[in-house]
Amino acid sequence: MPQLNRDQRHRITVTLNGKEVSGLAEPRMLLSDFLRQILSTNSVHVGCEHGVCGACTVRIDGRAVRSCLMFAAQADGRRIDTAAGLADDSGDLNALQTAFKKNHALQCGYCTPGILMSVTDFLERNPNPSEEEVEDMLSGHICRCTGYVGIKRAVLEVASRAGGK
Ligand code: FES
Ligand code: FES
Repeated sequence: MPQLNRDQRHRITVTLNGKEVSGLAEPRMLLSDFLRQILSTNSVHVGCEHGVCGACTVRIDGRAVRSCLMFAAQADGRRIDTAAGLADDSGDLNALQTAFKKNHALQCGYCTPGILMSVTDFLERNPNPSEEEVEDMLSGHICRCTGYVGIKRAVLEVASRAGGK
């Protein structure tokens, strides 16, 4: 049986924020490290590296996923969206980003890209959330600055503007 070479790098190709890009990754390389170190995607932040803080959240084929809990190889051929792709081509913020800005939903901003991706996924699946559901969703993210008040207000504001409660 041939020996498995754990250091051998493989080409991984993904559609990142609508653009096909590729890079080389060892089989054990985390997707979060691949995005940051190989594809220079600085909008993906890394905190705990074990699935607790939510800072590394991206959307893979539309679902919010913690990129530190996946290997880069598992993302080969898939669509990845990050917070960097939320604004339009001219750099104008989308409705959620604007609501975050207006409601002071960020301070240092370290947690923000991950939260934006989770909220985007959440509101697509549940456009009419209760306050409790928003709190429940946010419980998957650690923010050390805001106390979550502004974040919750921003999410509920976007939901109500879209026709929710
Ligand atoms: S860095 Fe991935 S959940 Fe904290
Ligand atoms: S704004 Fe600083 S950790 Fe959330």
